[in-house]
Amino acid sequence: MDHFLYRDGLLHAEDVALTEIAASVGTPFYCYSTATLTRHFRLFQDALAGLDHLVCFAIKSLSNQAVLRTLGNLGAGMDVVSGGEYRRAQAAGVPGERIVFSGVGKTREEMAYALTHGIRQFNVESAEELRVLSEVATALGKTAPITLRVNPDVDAKTHEKIATGRKEDKFGVPIARAREVYAEAARLPGIEVVGIDVHIGSQLTDLAPFEAAFSKIADLTRELRADGHTIRRLDLGGGLGIPYTRSNETPPLPLDYGAMIRRVLGDLDVEIEIEPGRLIAGNAGVLVSSVLYLKQGEGRDFLILDAAMNDLIRPAMYGAHHDIIPVIEAQAATDQRPVDIVGPVCETGDTFARQRSLPPLAPGDLVAFRSAGAYGAVMASEYNTRPLIPEVLVHGDQYAVIRARPSFDDILNRDTLPAWLESSTP
Ligand code: LLP
Repeated sequence: MDHFLYRDGLLHAEDVALTEIAASVGTPFYCYSTATLTRHFRLFQDALAGLDHLVCFAIKSLSNQAVLRTLGNLGAGMDVVSGGEYRRAQAAGVPGERIVFSGVGKTREEMAYALTHGIRQFNVESAEELRVLSEVATALGKTAPITLRVNPDVDAKTHEKIATGRKEDKFGVPIARAREVYAEAARLPGIEVVGIDVHIGSQLTDLAPFEAAFSKIADLTRELRADGHTIRRLDLGGGLGIPYTRSNETPPLPLDYGAMIRRVLGDLDVEIEIEPGRLIAGNAGVLVSSVLYLKQGEGRDFLILDAAMNDLIRPAMYGAHHDIIPVIEAQAATDQRPVDIVGPVCETGDTFARQRSLPPLAPGDLVAFRSAGAYGAVMASEYNTRPLIPEVLVHGDQYAVIRARPSFDDILNRDTLPAWLESSTP
């Protein structure tokens, strides 16, 4: 459930009509709902209630500081995958002891920054990284708390590009080698083993792959403890999927996910961490865009929007479906017509949907892409020199721009001419 609903025929974000935001901010823009973010975060809190746990928001999914502050205020930890994301979490006021650092290619600089400013744990992905972290920590006179991310060789049964737990994927230490790498970790200076980490993929719509992976982690916990390691924390990653199509998708609920975690890992006396991104942010955001043209083609019509693949890349990159709905609610009796929904960018990949049924729309009308809160704004680019679009956060009947649209000068001034070109003229 989210808080983007029609009221009096107008799509609202909580108590604010999207037409009102569009009139003041211009289109396209992203709009997020505080109530929905809060609700989704609390679903995980409730699902893990009674277990010692921390819900670390995967900030790669939606990293605006206003969103991080909102979730941080509710007690969320943060999962970061770069020095930049670490700084975002820090700037939003989240203390280091609630920040976990994931990712397959951490640099020495990133490790040193996190060690200096405080870190809950590094999720280390290889023996090679472990050795570098040991060097960096020792040089700083610090101890790095770590888990090893284990690759359990489980197929998450999700999109090829976002499955991460199969042995051919670049992530984690192969589970068969885990004991050997833990033994090395125990010997290395500046390293303190605190637990195990696993993340098998994103947009999982079935609990079975999670359960298969977590069962392997339960066995590994017992083995590592028998080897003498302290395993007091299990980081189970993120990945729980969301419905992208309202009508026919019913992915498992956080409550069922929590019950499964309790069943498989509940008797291990460990602290549980999870790193959800999409389930918290995905349906807490929409992308609002205006119709520029309705173009008649040969045998099909094209609805050309002012949003493009650079603003929301998921359809072009993963063939992803996003529901696209008119901001002014269609009358029940209105005939729907199939159109190809496209953006202005100069490639055919800039197609959001083919032959999607929509009520008749005219230039200037607004549409909203649903489920655009996660992996939307964060994956945007300035391709075709299209400025990054604003982000707006709604809270009840209030709204605020939380990232402004840059001016063309902002963009142009980032380029510099080398000395040998300065005085030349084309
Ligand atoms: N933890 C780790 C280590 C991850 O790599 C990810 C996502 C998450 C947590 C959060 O997963 P979530 O709960 O959001 O599924 N751009 C793609 C998704 C990439 C996911 C990358 N890793 C998309 O638009 O579908």
